Amino acid sequence: MSSNLCRVSGKPLVTVLDFGMQPLGNGFLSRSSLSEEYFYSMSVGFNNESMMLQLVHQPDPEKMFHDQYAFYSSTSNYMSRHFADFFDQVIKSDYLFGDDPFVVELGCNDGIMLKNFSKKGIRHLGIEPSINVAKIANYNGVRTVSEFFSEKLARKILEEDGMVDVFLAANVMCHIPDIMGVVKGIKCLIKPKGVVIFEDPYLGDIVSKVSYDQIYDEHVFFFSALSVRNLFSLVDMDLIDAIPQQTHGGSMRYVIAHKGAYPISDAVEKLIDDEKAMGLDQIETFVKFADNVKKSKEDLVELLTKLKRENKKVVGYGATSKSTTILNYCDIDARLIQYICDTTPIKQGKLSPGKHIPIVSYEKFKEDSVDYAFLFAWNHSQEIMNKEHDFISHGGKWITHVPGVRVV
Ligand code: TYD
Repeated sequence: MSSNLCRVSGKPLVTVLDFGMQPLGNGFLSRSSLSEEYFYSMSVGFNNESMMLQLVHQPDPEKMFHDQYAFYSSTSNYMSRHFADFFDQVIKSDYLFGDDPFVVELGCNDGIMLKNFSKKGIRHLGIEPSINVAKIANYNGVRTVSEFFSEKLARKILEEDGMVDVFLAANVMCHIPDIMGVVKGIKCLIKPKGVVIFEDPYLGDIVSKVSYDQIYDEHVFFFSALSVRNLFSLVDMDLIDAIPQQTHGGSMRYVIAHKGAYPISDAVEKLIDDEKAMGLDQIETFVKFADNVKKSKEDLVELLTKLKRENKKVVGYGATSKSTTILNYCDIDARLIQYICDTTPIKQGKLSPGKHIPIVSYEKFKEDSVDYAFLFAWNHSQEIMNKEHDFISHGGKWITHVPGVRVV
């Protein structure tokens, strides 16, 4: 377990929620590797100086991101469209300078966003430590480097490619234990008028929706505008804009620039006021959140136990990393949820981390007669509802846990 998780403040973290022993969120495994399964103690703490909610410990990154890493961004059409829109926003912005702008993306995954820049002939570089997904990005025409980002790698990029106009990251910054190393690397890489644009699941949504399933080994930090502003102020950078996003069940896109390079938008000022009103700078808010999480667990176990007594067939929809936290924290196994269907080939035929529920193909779900499907991929609910008319017309019902446990 990693003891060098970055503390943005020198003050200690106060643990607010303890999940006990958890497997890796994305640790889908085959029967033959059951005996090697890895568990670690998962808890989250808050620091009222940095205003950061974060994991207290984390497994070593090498255990999490490797050549079998089972996450491919392009499995969702909605996400593909989202990143095409993200690309459009960057192209239309005033942040790309001169004839030969340079765009870097941290954690480019299978190239879902950078392929758009590649197609337009814009100079780019994707940083992707998982070799299997980086290979797919290459295949998609994206230039990649397969390393963890650090100040050292930033200096190497600077030497080989020069300064960066736009530094992008989507659902990546919150994954990085040494966040200060990343922030310092960014600081030395971007042009005087360059920007960082990154988005991650938003703490305000996690608290208001009780979406505690966003908490798993890969999500080290749960950002708010308050904590992001504080983090970048440590390297003399300003949070200049913040734009809410629908993705991942509620995310925030942050725009950051060198201090004084741009005015700070009204949206940032308003968001900071809203966060203070919501108490995102107060530990009491997270103590209350922890109570809501425990209640969510009780309600879910009660509902699934009742459905089991009634002999209903209950399955899971979407073998998300998030589902690992729900299943292990609530102690739900194949007796309560028979299988989980997922469209990702690398997950099919495997078992869910910790609780070993079989992951099956989407086709199996389509052919089966299911009474209830737990929507683990609730962050894609719009896309899923649009295609699951048959399930509903045959009497199927959805179970969700956000913002409260209920049947829909
Ligand atoms: P994702 O949204 O990335 O969540 P997490 O970050 O928690 O892993 O994962 C969505 C999962 O759901 C992914 O494995 C693909 C699957 N999925 C389906 O099976 N069917 C669908 O229609 C959609 C949109 C996703």
